[in-house]
Amino acid sequence: MENYPKNKPWRKWVSMLAKEEVQILPDAILMKNGKTIMHRWETPLMEYMAAFVCEGGGDIIEMGFGMGISATAIQSHNPTSHTICEINPIILKELYKWAEDRPNVIILEGNWNDNIEKMGTYDGIFFDTHDDANAYKFHECHKKIANPGCRTTWWNNLDWGYNELEIEGTEFEVIPVNPPTNDYFHHKSYWMPQHIQG
Ligand SMILES: C[S@@+](CC[C@H](N)C(=O)[O-])C[C@H]1O[C@@H](n2cnc3c(N)ncnc32)[C@H](O)[C@@H]1O
Repeated sequence: MENYPKNKPWRKWVSMLAKEEVQILPDAILMKNGKTIMHRWETPLMEYMAAFVCEGGGDIIEMGFGMGISATAIQSHNPTSHTICEINPIILKELYKWAEDRPNVIILEGNWNDNIEKMGTYDGIFFDTHDDANAYKFHECHKKIANPGCRTTWWNNLDWGYNELEIEGTEFEVIPVNPPTNDYFHHKSYWMPQHIQG
């Protein structure tokens, strides 16, 4: 049996997406096993979430570039700076291309959880990772990087006010949706998490 590194803390578990050969299609990104990571049907939600995060302007950070839908929406609000943390090498290539003519973009390569020391403080936080073993810990990072008044949201895959990131004081806006058939979201309402730092 392989010598499992028991002495390493569990947080060193790395997302499969750190190495996965994802497939980029015009309207989706898929894992090797065919499961969807991101789909274009989310565009109106991504745009609405980006508008929430950018409402006060300033410095914005995103965890997870995916198809760049939220990133493009964030750019349309002309943030002072736009930091994007992305773990997947194939998606990172797309991100570098996308960022070529966007001088306010700062790229953090790798797991967001390994990049906390490189982060500054932010006025807007858009957290949308996938298959992320450390997401439950994000609230610790959030305390360090959220400026007063910082607006934060993240993807909620459930049709109720599930505060997956356990950020205290989060409220939910219920948005009617009508997603096409897909393998991860079948609800008729999207419960968007909204947190504004006191
Ligand atoms: C659902 S997609 C993001 C979709 C994006 N909001 C959009 O509008 O296209 C999830 C992204 O998070 C990235 N990701 C997953 N785990 C991550 C981690 N621990 N740190 C940084 N990025 C991560 C994935 O590689 C993928 O690009």
